[in-house]
Formats: sequence, structure tokens, C-alpha cells
Amino acid sequence: MQRTLVLIKPDGVQRGLVGTVLSRLERRGLKLVGLKMLRLGREMAERHYAEHRGKPFFEGLVGFITSGPLVAAVFEGAGAVAAVRQMMGATDPLQAAPGTLRGDLGLAIGRNVVHGSATPADAEREVALFFGPSELVDYRLDLEAWIYE
Ligand code: RTP
Ligand code: MG
Repeated sequence: MQRTLVLIKPDGVQRGLVGTVLSRLERRGLKLVGLKMLRLGREMAERHYAEHRGKPFFEGLVGFITSGPLVAAVFEGAGAVAAVRQMMGATDPLQAAPGTLRGDLGLAIGRNVVHGSATPADAEREVALFFGPSELVDYRLDLEAWIYE
């Protein structure tokens, strides 16, 4: 089953959007298998955004993502990587469609609330950067068993 990394960035935490973002991803049917709050150091931020090293926005991006606590989550499901990207919307919230997380919750490209892995290969790398194997929980979602117990 595919897994993807979601970050609720420092702006999302500051604005009290953690529950909203997690809730919308859960309601889509994605399964939460890892969750933590942490503040990134510069080294980890640079590793996470290594593909953007050297770009004009890189320093601002690293400064922002290390500016306060964020919430990291791993969601699992068929096509989870693409599903999360679709729900996030375009990188620039002004271009993101209404109904997407960024289109509904953001206005500025540098404060776009969420991160989601862009490809399955990125997802594997990013999940391993944020979570050790013992921090990812293997469990069954079986709602009927709870209702009729
Ligand atoms: P993310 O990695 O955070 O999920 O965002 P993304 O894939 O949609 O966009 P990406 O191209 O990976 O860019 C990473 C973050 O850098 C900031 N950015 N600023 N000023 C600019 O032109 C610019 N371009 C990108 C955004 O905050 C973006 O989320
Ligand atoms: Mg990206």
C-alpha cells in the first residue's frame, strides 16, 4: 500500500489548522499511520527540500519551515501520493482551486499551509527522513467490528 508524507507547515500550526487538514485527509478515506509534532533544524530542512537548493526562494523556504513547530503525518492508501497532491492544490494558493486545502486555506506561496510528497519515490525518501520504522503503525481499519462488537 502506498504511503505519503504530509507536513502541516508552521503557518498551519500557528493558524490552528492542524485538525482541519488532518480531518479533510481522513474524510477522503486516507489512513493515518504516523503522526508527530516537531520543529525542524536547518540540516533536516535542507535535506527535506534538497531539490530546491540554489533556487532564489531556498533561503526563505528553509527559514520559514524552521521558524516554528510543524506536524508531520504519514497517510496510507491506494494512490495516496496523488490523492494528497490533488487535495492540496497548486503550490501558489492564488492558483489553487477552491475545494483544495491551499485554495481554501491560503493566500501566499510562501505560506501555503501544507506539504505533500510529489512522487512515490519522494514519498519513500521523505517518510524515512521523518519517521523510524517503529513510529509507523500497522493496524486494520475495521469499522464494522467496532459497531457490532
Ligand atoms: P511542497 O514541496 O511544500 O509540498 O510544495 P510544492 O511541491 O507544491 O512546491 P515546490 O515546487 O516543491 O516548492 C516548495 C515550496 O517552496 C515555496 N516556493 N516558493 N517564491 C516561489 O517562487 C516559490 N516556489 C516555491 C513554496 O512554499 C513551496 O511549497
Ligand atoms: Mg515539493
